[in-house]
Formats: sequence, C-alpha cells, structure tokens
Amino acid sequence: MALKITVIGTGYLGATHAAAMAELGFEVLGLDVVPEKIEMLQRGEVPMYEPGLEELLRKHVAGIEGASGRLRFTMDWAEVADFGDVHFVCVNTPQKHGEYACDMSYVDAAFESLAPHLTGPALVVGKSTVPVGSADRLAARLAELAPAGEDVELAWNPEFLREGLAVQDTLHPDRIVVGVRGDRGEKLLREVYATPMAEGSPFVVTDFPTAELVKTSANSFLATKISFINAMAEVCEAAGGDVAKLAEAIGYDERIGKKFLRAGIGFGGGCLPKDIRAFMARAGELGADQALTFLREIDSINMRQRGQMVELAREALGGGAFLGKRVAVLGATFKPDSDDVRDSPALNVAGQIHLQGGQVTVYDPKGMVNARRLFPTLGYADSAIEAVRGADVVLHLTEWREFRELDPAQLGEAAAQRIVLDGRNALDPSVWRAAGWTYRAMGRPSA
Ligand code: UDX
Repeated sequence: MALKITVIGTGYLGATHAAAMAELGFEVLGLDVVPEKIEMLQRGEVPMYEPGLEELLRKHVAGIEGASGRLRFTMDWAEVADFGDVHFVCVNTPQKHGEYACDMSYVDAAFESLAPHLTGPALVVGKSTVPVGSADRLAARLAELAPAGEDVELAWNPEFLREGLAVQDTLHPDRIVVGVRGDRGEKLLREVYATPMAEGSPFVVTDFPTAELVKTSANSFLATKISFINAMAEVCEAAGGDVAKLAEAIGYDERIGKKFLRAGIGFGGGCLPKDIRAFMARAGELGADQALTFLREIDSINMRQRGQMVELAREALGGGAFLGKRVAVLGATFKPDSDDVRDSPALNVAGQIHLQGGQVTVYDPKGMVNARRLFPTLGYADSAIEAVRGADVVLHLTEWREFRELDPAQLGEAAAQRIVLDGRNALDPSVWRAAGWTYRAMGRPSA
C-alpha cells in the first residue's frame, strides 16, 4: 500500500513539500496552527508568491474541481498522527531576537504536539534547518513522549529549495540527504523519494549530525562565495577594475564555477543571513567557534555592500546630504521571482536613504504588499516608470526580468536626471548609455 504522508507547517517549505508529495502520487495531509493559512490552502491559494506552486496545489487539493484530491489540510494533531506513516516537520527556525542563535520553539512545539498521539509505527522526518545536535535531542524526546515507543523513528532530511524555484527544486532535487539511525528510516525515505531517485537524484545517507551540518555548511559556502566576489568588488572599486569581468574570467575554472559570483548589494532573505549566524552560535556552544570566525567576516562584507550602495548613491547626487533628493528604487524583494522581503538588501538601502532625508520611491513587481508592511514610511509607486518620475537617481536593487526589459529612453523622459546605479550588475550598460544615462555598477568604476 502506498505510504501516507503528513506535512507539519505549511510555510514556504511545507506548502511546497506537501504539494510535491501529492504530485509524486502520495496521499498527503498538511497541518498548520494558523487557521487563516489552512483556509487559504484549502481554497488552493498560497500565502506567498512562488512560481508554479499555486498551480501544483490546485492540481491536488481535495474539493477543487478537477483536482486529484490527494492533498488535504487540517489543524488536528490526532488526525495527523492517525493518518500518516511518514510525518515531515517543516516549521521555520527564525533567528532569535537579539541573538545569533536560531529559535527552535516552533520545531519543539511541533514534536511536543505530535508525539503524544503517535500510538503506532511512524517515521518522523525533520526538514527544518536546525542547529547540529537537535536531531539527537528530538529523538530522545520522541522516545519519551510517543506511546508507540521504539516503533517511532526519527530521520533528518534537510531541504535545499531556493525561493522562486521551490517547486522545481522539490520535485527534482539535486541531492537527497537523509540522516538516519536505523534501516527502517532509510527504507521508508527511499520509498518516498523513489521518483526523483529514478530520475537520477543522488541519495546520500548519513548520521544525524552530518545531515544537519550539510544544510548549514552548504548555505555557509554559498554565502562565502557571494561575499568573496563582493570583497573582490571592493578591491576593483579601489583599483579601477571590473568585478563582472573578473567573475566571468575566474568562473571558467571549473573548480571555481561561475554560479553565485554576481557582485552587488549582497545576500538577504530568510535563510542565508540567519543560517550563518546560527551556525556560528552553535559552533561556539560546541567549543568550535574558531572554525567559523571567517563567517563573521562573510557577514560583515555582506552588510557593508548595503552601505556602499548608499554611498554610491550619495556620490551620484553630488556627494552631500540626501535631503530633498528624489531617489527611485527598483526592487524590494531579496531576490527576483519572490515576494519575500525578509532581510532584503534592497529595502535596507531604500530605508537607509529615507532615514537620511532622501525622498525614496520604491517599485517591485511582487513585493509591494510585504514591503509596505515592513517599511510603511517609504514612498511606493505602482510601476517602474512612476517610481522613476522626477527622480534624481535610479537604483536597481533586485534583478527582476521586468527591469532588464525596461525601455531606458522612455524612463529617461520621466527621470529628472539620467543616472542609474546597478546594485545587482544585471542591467546592460550599453543600452542605458545609448539612451543618455550615466550607468554605474558596484565594483565596476571603469565599466
Ligand atoms: C538559499 C539557498 O540557495 C537554498 O539552497 C537554501 O535552501 C535556502 O537558502 P534562497 O534564500 O532562496 O536560497 O536564495 P538564494 O538564491 O540562495 O539567494 C540568496 C541571496 O543571495 C539573494 O539575496 C541573492 O540576490 C543573493 N545572491 C545570489 C547574490 O548576491 N549574488 C549571487 O551571485 C547569488
């Protein structure tokens, strides 16, 4: 009989995982503790913008016309425990307020709520990004709380999905990592992931701590790559070099690779910044803090880029105060194809200039609602051209395709001054210059 799967926590990770499991042919029951989320999902709507996710959901949610009906949602823990053979825990682990460490309260609450209802054999699979050592602790907690005792097993199966590509990454993962203690966990997870494995996704079996570390070390490596190229951008600024050319040239070396070498205002979002901080905090607790002191530098290089963008804008406006200057900001989300503004470098830059007296007007294709909620005091426009109208300088801060397709000539007529600063090294300088713009990008004073 086919496995029955539950997904606990229906945020980015959980909603995508639940829909993907239904797509793979399993009966799925999703649980969340927020009633509004459950109501939305039951209507086949997702609480965030993620390409392809709503379509996938509507293909499977029970009650929607033409859907497979394999995907349902509930708020009832007993129902979840009773339904599932495999329970995926997908709740979030945000950064603790005022600390580097991550907040485990949602993960802990999920285990505490589920375990007492587990009266028969079950596999609980942690997917949340957690400090190394959590799986050991949670396995002990399960053994204490679950009436089925040893029939309940834990596995750790980190998730590597990228926002904007969540559906594709979940259905066709580039690797599947499972931390297990016994054969049963591995066997069940091989069954769950049979389809992507048949397509060629590698299946890596590890112990608990290694599985937990794979996730945090992968994100640390990515963050390091971005900060490395941004450090090179700083040197290029000083030496008159061109960081985009430099990245292209070093990227041809296969050992280096060209991905994640786009210099600019740096990384943000709900994962990279908090994951490297939580990793440092955890290494400190383990007495291995020296091993990760370099991440402190990665973090500061990253944060410095935001300030440098503000300084580039100041320079472009004559070097004085921002008072009375009109600044158009294109982009609010931390990356394109997402409506996520968590720790967004773009909004950070917009906010800094606003706080220094600049008249900032922001436009983003999908992030307006979230940006307004987070930064209600910034100015907002309904389109790129409206944001640019009357602007003394235009800042390109999130590399949406829509911005690359703008007509610089038309924009030039709306702007007060034709100065564009590319914080993502993604616009084509020659096109903008041909339309009379002064184009300046980070790390490319000469380009
Ligand atoms: C990341 C990891 O990529 C993913 O594997 C993990 O599961 C979650 O965290 P995500 O947060 O969606 O995914 O964003 P990602 O695509 O990694 O980009 C992170 C940030 O880095 C963005 O702000 C992006 O603009 C920035 N970035 C990326 C650069 O500044 N330069 C680059 O070359 C690449």
